[in-house]
Amino acid sequence: MRKKVIAGNWKMNNDLSESQNLVSGIISGLGNDTKCDVIVCPPFTSLSEVNTLIKDTPVKLGAQNMHYEDSGAFTGEISNSMLKSVGCEYVIIGHSERRTIFGENDEMINKKNKKALESGLKVIFCIGESLEQREEGITNEVVKKQIVNGLMNVTPDDLMNIIIAYEPVWAIGTGKTATPEQAQEVHSFIRGQIENIYSKESSENLQIQYGGSVKPENAATLLSQPDIDGALVGGACLKADSFLSIIASA
Ligand code: 13P
Repeated sequence: MRKKVIAGNWKMNNDLSESQNLVSGIISGLGNDTKCDVIVCPPFTSLSEVNTLIKDTPVKLGAQNMHYEDSGAFTGEISNSMLKSVGCEYVIIGHSERRTIFGENDEMINKKNKKALESGLKVIFCIGESLEQREEGITNEVVKKQIVNGLMNVTPDDLMNIIIAYEPVWAIGTGKTATPEQAQEVHSFIRGQIENIYSKESSENLQIQYGGSVKPENAATLLSQPDIDGALVGGACLKADSFLSIIASA
C-alpha cells in the first residue's frame, strides 16, 4: 500500500516572517500523528528558518528548484549542497512554471533529476500537458515524452527516491481541476509507462501526486482514486487551515 504524500509548493510567496507564521500554523494543527507524508517547499530565503521550526515534527522540507551543476559561475542559481545544508530532503524539478516561464527543457530537467538524486536529494518530478495539447488529444504522448526524457539514465534504485507529480498546466492556478476520472486516467497511464521502462514492482511503489487547483473541497475525491497517491498543492497551501484540511483528506 503506497503512502499518501501531500506537498505544498509555496512558489514565490511568503517572506521570512510570513513563512514562519505559515509553518508554525501547519505544525500546530498537525500534531505528531500524520498518516501521510507532509512536505513544505518554501522559497529559498525561508528554507533555513523553516528547517529550524520543523525540527522534531513530521513535516519535511523541500526546495522549488536546483541547478544541475555542483558550483560555479551560475549567478542566481542554487546547488544541491546548498539545499542540503539548510535541511532540504526534497526538491521540485521540472515544474511547468520553470518549463514555460524560464525555458527549462527535458534535457535540463533530466540533468537536474540526476544531479539531485546523485547528491541524495529526493525529487518531486513534475510533468503535465498544456490545454492545447489536451485539446489536440496528445496528453499521453506529451506525458510519455516528459517521462522518457526526464528519467533518461535514472536507475531503478534512484527511481525509489522520485515522486512524480502530474500537473496538467491548464489546471494550475486556474481554479479548473481535472476531474478525478481525468486525473486517474493519466495517473494510470504514467504508472504503465514506469512499468514499461522499469518494472511492475517499481511502478507499484511509485508515488504519483496530482497537482492543479487542489482545494479542501476537491481533495478527498481526487485522493480516493486508485492511482492518485497525493497532491502537490499551490494556492491552497498558503493558508494553514486549507493545507491542513487537504492533509486530513489524505
Ligand atoms: P495551484 O494549486 O495553485 O493550482 O498550483 C498547483 C501547482 O502548481 C503546485 O506545484
